[in-house]
Amino acid sequence: AAAALVTGTGLAAAPGAAPGVPHEHEAGEVRTVGEPTRRFTLTAATATVRVGGRDVAAWAFNGQVPGPELTAAVGDVLEVTLRNRDIERGVTLHWHGYDVPNSQDGVPGVTQEAVRPGQEFVYRFRAEQAGTYWYHTHAVSDVGVRKGLYGMLVVRPAPVAGVDVTVPVHTLSGLPLPAPRTEPVAAGTPVRLRLANTDSTTHRYALAGTPFRVAAIDGGDLRGPAPIDETAVLIAAGGRYDLVFTAPATPVALLVDGRAVWSTGPVPAATDRWPVLDPLTYGASAPAPWSRFDREFTLVLDRGLDLRGLLPRYAHTVNGAADPDIPPQVVREGDVVAFTIVNRAQYVHPWHLHGHHVLVLSRNGQPATGSPLWLDSFDVRPGDVWKVAFRADNPGVWANHCHNLAHADAGMTLHLMYS
Ligand code: C2O
Ligand code: CU
Repeated sequence: AAAALVTGTGLAAAPGAAPGVPHEHEAGEVRTVGEPTRRFTLTAATATVRVGGRDVAAWAFNGQVPGPELTAAVGDVLEVTLRNRDIERGVTLHWHGYDVPNSQDGVPGVTQEAVRPGQEFVYRFRAEQAGTYWYHTHAVSDVGVRKGLYGMLVVRPAPVAGVDVTVPVHTLSGLPLPAPRTEPVAAGTPVRLRLANTDSTTHRYALAGTPFRVAAIDGGDLRGPAPIDETAVLIAAGGRYDLVFTAPATPVALLVDGRAVWSTGPVPAATDRWPVLDPLTYGASAPAPWSRFDREFTLVLDRGLDLRGLLPRYAHTVNGAADPDIPPQVVREGDVVAFTIVNRAQYVHPWHLHGHHVLVLSRNGQPATGSPLWLDSFDVRPGDVWKVAFRADNPGVWANHCHNLAHADAGMTLHLMYS
């Protein structure tokens, strides 16, 4: 039996999840949200924004790119009113990495219709998971996100000590990057940098001037992360990393692809040619929660010719088919589901499943031995084979796609459905 979805009524408190452990919903649980405690309005409109000293024609939320940072504490009920002033192609809000009830997921044609100029849509969900997330339009998402319809969503466990800042990094394709931000921090202050890659391709992040720990990936806290130094991290399109450190007396800088984007003072001379952290082996391991799977799927990623239109064009394919012809993955509520992704193409495909976090089991036959890694966005590189698993605990119809949004639009989108 599918869970009844009740939106906007009832006051039953949802059980809070321990940090880093995705909230598992009871089968048949009624997900009430209660009275909103945090209200936001996001108005999408064409706008001219100033980036890197240039005026750029953008699509913006409340006149800014990125859009306003939405913040909440665990237990808050968020109510976000989306208005579309003049984006002819429509707008929605998708809460990237936030496992909201299906009706709030913001996928046009699947969970709602796109919001047209002059219309609005109200999203409501309870903040059950702390962590770093982001939101973006899912209507013509490749164009919409590139033009600026995205922002950060940060859910903090209260109270927060020290400095807690977010750094969304988006290299607006072909557009100038924003000027680096400088934020002086007193020595001894704990700092948490919340990094999000809101772009369609991988970026390399390095912290110069201090040892640090990777506290969380894709919103979930890691178990026992050790301090590392002179190490870079690669963040997949859509992915997030939280880095924590104690501010030293000397400046610290965050470099993205070798370029400083945030610092606490004059940027220290540094290389970014450091070794790259392998998240699969980082942190303290724990026994796998599942040893058998109710269902297993294989997704083979490739490139093929799409002959359905007037002219043949290249498509990014899954099991030889392109959206909307890729058969859905059908699961039952409560199933433990494994899927293997095999990349036979010459492209990196950053994979993103909506509504669920997947536990990484292995990559290229190498078991994940570090902290249990619950991801919503991960790079499947050419030749890679990833095996991941999740519990089917969030009924609905969910997009499962490549987060290089041009690839997603060119066929590489399928759906997960509950029978
Ligand atoms: Cu961040 Cu389906 O998207
Ligand atoms: Cu792709």
